[in-house]
Amino acid sequence: MTLPPTLVPVSSTTRVIACATDEIGEVAADVVASVAPDGVLGVATGSSPLALYAALIRRRAEGLRTEGLRLFALDEYVGLRTDDPRSYAAYVRSVIAEPLGIPVENVRVPHGSTDTDGAAYERLIADAGGVDVQIVGIGRNGHIGFNEPGSDAETRTRVVALDESTRRANAEHFDDDLTQVPTHALTQGVATILSARRIVLVAAGSAKAAALRAALTCPVTADNPASFLQRHPDVTVVADHDALREDR
Ligand code: GLP
Repeated sequence: MTLPPTLVPVSSTTRVIACATDEIGEVAADVVASVAPDGVLGVATGSSPLALYAALIRRRAEGLRTEGLRLFALDEYVGLRTDDPRSYAAYVRSVIAEPLGIPVENVRVPHGSTDTDGAAYERLIADAGGVDVQIVGIGRNGHIGFNEPGSDAETRTRVVALDESTRRANAEHFDDDLTQVPTHALTQGVATILSARRIVLVAAGSAKAAALRAALTCPVTADNPASFLQRHPDVTVVADHDALREDR
């Protein structure tokens, strides 16, 4: 099989690992497992990192110590209760924390509806000594966390309005009913994400190709918040060939 051309990042501090879709989880886990046994792991929700979490859970069964990890989620919808199964709090609990044996007191997810709640979350991260490894996905419009286009490099955890395109993309988790998708979220800012010591971006599928290409190969711009990752000293991108095609 001839693989499509893979894009080359402009930042020398960004490493791109291209792999088959079904290898993303294990390849990303190789990087993320360095945070065990008791580091601070920043976790993204969404479908992209699911295989990564599954790989970590397999490795725990094989002896990787994960019970001492401390987790910080990137973002949360405003207006959902933490026990709502559609909340990111529920995702982090059921998909990551419980299967990895991480106690609830080690799990933090942004919660609230004001920038004061965001500032409190920033203090929690600082009190933990910062994030060792941050996992991020990328939205089709280049968002990281819920930092929609227009989010600048200085942003910190705050309330944001969600783009219509993001709400549509996430409607599948709300019975395909756009009216049920929250309009706002509390998200770590770009500056918060860039404060992590190491960042791992996972992406799969052609729907992410344009945003990923712009993020890695075009000038840094708030129009594509993922492009700010070019300024970080240690980024690993783990993506499949469809997401890395340079001709999309
Ligand atoms: C969501 C989340 C992001 C996630 C991104 C991509 O809206 N807020 O944290 O990385 O969009 O999601 P997915 O991996 O499901 O495509």
